[in-house]
Amino acid sequence: MSNTIGSIIGGRPASGSPAGTVTSPNPSRLADVVAEVQLADAATFAAACAEAKRAQPAWAATPAPVRGRAVGAIGRIVEANKEALARLVTRELGKPGGEALGEVQEIIDTCDFFLGEGRRLYGQTVPSEMPDKQLFTFRVPVGAAAVVTAGNFPVAVPSWYLVPALVAGNTVVWKPAEYAAASALALFELFQAAGLPEGVLNLVFADGAATFAGLEQGLREGSIDKIGFTGSTAVGRRIGELAGRHLQVPCLELGGKNPMVIAPSADIALAVEGALFSGFGTAGQRCTSLGSIIVHESLHDEFLDRFAAATSAAPVGDPAQDVLYGPMLDQKFATRFEEYLGWIQPHHKVLGSSGMGRISAANPRDGFIGDPEAGLFYHPTIVDGLQSGDALFSQETFGPIVGVTTYASLDEAITLANTPGYGLSSAIYTTDPHDAFRFRQGISAGMVSVNNSTSGAEAHLPFGGNGLSGNGSRQSGIWVLDQFTRWQAMNWDYSGRLQKAQMDVAEITPDLEYRLPG
Ligand code: UN1
Repeated sequence: MSNTIGSIIGGRPASGSPAGTVTSPNPSRLADVVAEVQLADAATFAAACAEAKRAQPAWAATPAPVRGRAVGAIGRIVEANKEALARLVTRELGKPGGEALGEVQEIIDTCDFFLGEGRRLYGQTVPSEMPDKQLFTFRVPVGAAAVVTAGNFPVAVPSWYLVPALVAGNTVVWKPAEYAAASALALFELFQAAGLPEGVLNLVFADGAATFAGLEQGLREGSIDKIGFTGSTAVGRRIGELAGRHLQVPCLELGGKNPMVIAPSADIALAVEGALFSGFGTAGQRCTSLGSIIVHESLHDEFLDRFAAATSAAPVGDPAQDVLYGPMLDQKFATRFEEYLGWIQPHHKVLGSSGMGRISAANPRDGFIGDPEAGLFYHPTIVDGLQSGDALFSQETFGPIVGVTTYASLDEAITLANTPGYGLSSAIYTTDPHDAFRFRQGISAGMVSVNNSTSGAEAHLPFGGNGLSGNGSRQSGIWVLDQFTRWQAMNWDYSGRLQKAQMDVAEITPDLEYRLPG
């Protein structure tokens, strides 16, 4: 019998499943149903937002250092439950053990960082242009935030929103992906165990349509002050339009077509290792996963041989064992991945495995670990000979597929890397500092790795993209505070008279004609 779970609003389970139920299966063993998920409708979503809005003033009035201590406690509670949460992430999303533990560590790191922020949240004292007057700035919480997250990082990426939002004095309605529902509920419970007051954090399970309608209603009713969204560019665009109509700027973390340039001076063994991890780690289902390799023409053959050999030899299969990657996250990603494979054209050459598409008894992968028929396992696919007009070159292809093309000059490599119009992550392998800095300057991406994978950003640097990857918002570190606070400027005149800015200002008279003799 599976575990039935539902939304929690104001500390109480929301009743029933007005929009039906879905199951969240284990993608490496589909017969194992991890959770039966009761879905909320738009009205329930909007009710959760109203609850968050109601709870917000009292939370904002709780001193920031106290909120910081709550975040510190969340970090400790998550740490004490690290293995159990990682095991659930492996079971529900198919992430190999090491990656799942890394994902949970990212929450702990985020809490460690924001524990101290509760004692900072600095504003400034600013001199006035007039005497007996003082200027100040304060960071003010935005209000109630609606946070909608994907399931490829079912607990780490949500924490990038929840932790800074809470420490800054906001309340939150969190809508996780349905296929990551059990992991989401576990994280929610760990947050609640830290003693958050009722209504400060609310969890709503809903499908895309109900969520969108709920966001619309919440915005209309004035109970959503900020939307955070991690997901596809197409949905991000709709959320941006919706928020814009309400004069809001959402925090958008969207897709990527992350390029990796391999320059003539590159250490090829290192580049192969980086390409393997960023292309196929998490079965290529990170927003930071490698999209296209842009290799200098002089290295193409050697690099491709070595990359194809490493990919063919990589262990793929049961995520409970020692594998490079496990299954697709969910059936919808498997279905979409098969569409991307349909974009392969006669001028392309496919390498990297003993087959292509879904791994099965009839379409085996040499060295597969476990039972391929039990889950959603796909061959790693390298597609050589990409041209810049190819769909495979220009579109995000969530899944274990990496394209390869060549370049002659660094300027050409940078142009190719920017061509798809995304701008999340990027990498260059080079031992020449000139190439590294020229690439940094020319690439449109928000994140640049030198001699490192496109994926695997550390939790305290600004994370986010440009172009099709987002609207310029940044998560993590001090930078995310600009998403969850607004600056308030204060001036205090204690002169006892009305001093008018720009007009009642003393002047020092300079002699601008003054010149040194000779
Ligand atoms: C994502 O895929 O949405 O940099 C986030 C990385 C991870 C986060 C990825 N730390 O790959």
